[in-house]
Amino acid sequence: MSSAVNPLRDAQDRRLPRIAGPSGLVIFGVTGDLSRKKLMPAVYDLANRGLLPPGFSLVGFARRDWEHEDFAQVVHDAVREHARTPFREEVWQQLAQGMRFVSGVFDDDDAFRTLKATIEELDKSRGTGGNFAFYLSVPPKFFPTVVSQLKEHGLSDGQGDSWRRAVIEKPFGHDLKSAQDLNSVVHDVFRPSEVFRIDHYLGKETVQNILALRFANTMFEPLWNRSYVDHVQITMAEDIGIGGRAGYYDGIGSARDVIQNHLLQLLALTAMEEPVSFEAKPLVTEKMKVLNSVRLPEDLAAHTVRGQYAAGWQGGRKVLGYLDEDGIDPQSGTDTYAAIKLEIDNRRWAGVPFYLRTGKRLGRRVTEIAVVFQRAPHSPFGATDTQELGQNALVIRVQPDEGVTIRFGSKVPGTQMEIRDVTMDFAYGESFTESSPEAYERLILDVLLGDANLFPRHQEVERSWEILDPIEEHWERHGKPEQYPAGTWGPAAADEMLARDGRSWRRP
Ligand code: BG6
Repeated sequence: MSSAVNPLRDAQDRRLPRIAGPSGLVIFGVTGDLSRKKLMPAVYDLANRGLLPPGFSLVGFARRDWEHEDFAQVVHDAVREHARTPFREEVWQQLAQGMRFVSGVFDDDDAFRTLKATIEELDKSRGTGGNFAFYLSVPPKFFPTVVSQLKEHGLSDGQGDSWRRAVIEKPFGHDLKSAQDLNSVVHDVFRPSEVFRIDHYLGKETVQNILALRFANTMFEPLWNRSYVDHVQITMAEDIGIGGRAGYYDGIGSARDVIQNHLLQLLALTAMEEPVSFEAKPLVTEKMKVLNSVRLPEDLAAHTVRGQYAAGWQGGRKVLGYLDEDGIDPQSGTDTYAAIKLEIDNRRWAGVPFYLRTGKRLGRRVTEIAVVFQRAPHSPFGATDTQELGQNALVIRVQPDEGVTIRFGSKVPGTQMEIRDVTMDFAYGESFTESSPEAYERLILDVLLGDANLFPRHQEVERSWEILDPIEEHWERHGKPEQYPAGTWGPAAADEMLARDGRSWRRP
């Protein structure tokens, strides 16, 4: 076998653990939810798995009047509550010795001077080597201040061989224009290769498995095109409501929250051509090609739907409607459900619709990509024999219950010819003993290693807004979202949208 054409040729090397070199992480917005529930536990889990250097250091930056010990205690509690791996005192002690807290607001020069001194002290005491990543877990309106402060105080440039990187959380803008503005603010200070934009879906094992499934096998790719595929459904359904996130969510809505990023990334990975390698640049090239070929339907009223959850029942419990949630404007027209149809104008996909949908307070939590195949061109069976036969489908179950299902028709045992759908299943839990790392573990480690493969570049972010903007503008001009009872599968209009195309949504 020629190694030059085998994209998985480095598999041997990849089995070696990838361990970050001397480094530290500074988190802005360290008192927020994301930091407590995801970032702090991920740092501990990485340390526990031996993937961080012994002197790794974690610096929190926030307004609170905390001492280093108070910060360490907060991290400790977050780790005890949310970490994936067991708590080990010796790992914790080593990590805790490298924890520092800097108290201040973002435009406070003294606080940034203290941050600089803290980093220099850590370089000496912990051997962090001047290598620091700055994680901006703050609303985008603070990006300009934080990045310009980093520049002003000489923190954005590494000395000699050391590196400085910026990690940016979504939302990355709320439309194309604001995303371009943010990109230019960040790129004034950091080089593109130093900027890591988080889309945590790309850190999920099952999302990376889309590439393995498609490009490490021979049996799927020949069918992966307009000759065999009828349509593709990408679903991200959540059973939760907006919880305590009214401030972030109201006015943003479901399409900006997850279609612009997670779902369009899933579409890109499902539909793109094989990249030359899985390095960042070739991956972006292929994702951009396919995102550039995405076309919106002309009639947005017929092919997009938005909804908002009303009160209902979920898990045997009565839950509030969106408009009654804490902190939500009772007149709010924010969507908590969105469904859109997209076409991809290229040779592989011409005429194959991609249906994307997402929603909060739906029937259950499930994210999946279903590639639904055409019916057989001719059936030698009678209509009654096949009345329970659906379309063949390959379903990538992103979460929960991670795996892949193939659905096909099979003869029901008995004397008659009767054909019914059956499934063949691959479940991660059964095939692998090791549990999947949390997305944030993978992504934080990649930042420290400078590995940019799983981070969307600014072109992708901007192109995704360019796709979504006309839909948002259309919705803004046309009334309010349709209400759907919590615990159901969204507004009736979404079913009608597919019915018009002679199709129906899967009920996962
Ligand atoms: C985030 C969204 O990006 O993803 C949230 O802002 C959503 O609204 C979350 O709940 C879902 O993530 P996961 O990993 O639980 O599917």
